[in-house]
Formats: sequence, C-alpha cells, structure tokens
Amino acid sequence: MFLKKNISKIKLTNQALDFQRYVRIYRWNPHRQQKPWFNVYPISIKTCGPMVLDALFQIKNIQDPSISFRRSCREGICGSCSMNINGTNSLACLKSLYQEGKFITIYPLPHMYVIKDLIVDLTNFYSQYKLIKPWLVNDLLPDKEQLQSKKDRLELDGLYECILCACCSTGCPSYWWNQDTYLGPAILLQAYRWIADSRDKSTSYRLNFLNHKIRLFRCHTIMNCSRTCPKNLNPGKAIANIKQEILHK
Ligand code: SF4
Ligand code: SF4
Ligand code: FES
Repeated sequence: MFLKKNISKIKLTNQALDFQRYVRIYRWNPHRQQKPWFNVYPISIKTCGPMVLDALFQIKNIQDPSISFRRSCREGICGSCSMNINGTNSLACLKSLYQEGKFITIYPLPHMYVIKDLIVDLTNFYSQYKLIKPWLVNDLLPDKEQLQSKKDRLELDGLYECILCACCSTGCPSYWWNQDTYLGPAILLQAYRWIADSRDKSTSYRLNFLNHKIRLFRCHTIMNCSRTCPKNLNPGKAIANIKQEILHK
C-alpha cells in the first residue's frame, strides 16, 4: 500500500515536471549601469496559452513586470513580436510552446541595437523601406480604378503577405555587416512586390535604384532569409528575380 502510494506520487511529480518549461530571457536596461544578463522563469504549460508569446505575457503579468517586448495582433499579422527563439528568428505569437523543448532561450533579433530587453531599434529598417517607395506609382489615370488580370494578380502572391517583421533581414549575414547600405531581404522582397505589380509604371526607376553593388548585389544567395521567414515566404527568390530583371533590362 505504502509503495503504491509513493509510486503514484512519483508519477504525479513526473507529470508536473512534464508541464514545466524554463524560459531564459535576454535582459538589458539602458538605465542600469550593467551589462546584459539573463533571467530564467519557470512556467507551466498547463496554466499558459499555447504560444511563446503567451508565456511572455504570463511571465510579465505574474512574475516580472519589468520585461519589455513588442506585440500587437498576436496572430502573425503585425510583425511586431519578432525575436530570436531557441536560435531561430521567428514570431513569438506563431511559435508553439510545446515544440520548443523544456528550455526556451529568447534573444532580441540579432545584430540590431537593443532599446530594452527584446525590443530592437528598427529605425534604419523603416528608413530603408521608405527608400524603395512602397506604393503604386501610376500617374496616367489617377482617378480611375487600376484593374489587373487574374494572372497579373497572381504574380503578387508570396510577396504581398510580407509583414515586415525583419526576421529575414536580421538573419542575413550580409545585412549584419552592411546594413548602412545593403537593403536586406525584407526590403528587397518589398521592392520586388512593386516591380512585379502590373499596374506600377516605375519599374525602370525602381530597377535603376536597386542596380547597385551593395544595395542589392551584397546578397550572396546564402538563403538564411528564406529558411527563417515565419510566413514561409521566399525573399531569396525575390532578390534573384530582381537580379534577373536588371540583367534583362
Ligand atoms: S539570400 Fe541574400 S538576402 Fe538572403 S540571407 Fe542570403 S545574402 Fe541575405
Ligand atoms: S519576408 Fe518574411 S521574414 Fe522577411 S520581413 Fe517579410 S514576413 Fe518577415
Ligand atoms: S503579435 Fe503581431 S505578429 Fe506577433
């Protein structure tokens, strides 16, 4: 009887341990005269939502309100919860807590200036986005609806879905070392989105702007970008398409 009781106790403890996760989070606070450090937070997946973002919320709400991270939509649409989770750049709201193992290490996006904890400075990233004029340029019939054939519309699939989360650019070695000039995979995919749009009339301006030894050609087709994209897009292919267009211009 005694033995039976103890065995079931051990079983229960093991079960409880199975639900236990340890989230190790990179911390840095510009107002503290202190080097970056890590905090480890135990959580139970029994009492937490299913995604890594849910774990971050639970930690912030219950254990440590000082943790900073960006988020908004919590469904992979706004791109703000991008971070490095167990070595992969991803969206915390799309990353399943169950598939990440017992220990989950979270860093901010790599090779970016950190503002606080998991929040990085995206000022340069958005300035680069502005450079590619991310809007339709068509002055011919400004008041008229611009129609597209079904085939032309299909050309935008795999491009328009990009949410500018920067997971690809911050996973690209060429971008790490040249982000003052090299536009990086996210911005180049966005550039191709307008080049591929049958309604846009500034293709040749766009290609001339991109035809630059660093701005575009710093891409060495390493393809980390396409491997990491949490929306399963292929920025490496979009870059290859721009290079082809420039070649056949
Ligand atoms: S394919 Fe180009 S953009 Fe993508 S990771 Fe490699 S170098 Fe960077
Ligand atoms: S291509 Fe993918 S990884 Fe890159 S910014 Fe867009 S959604 Fe994010
Ligand atoms: S919170 Fe919007 S993409 Fe994750």
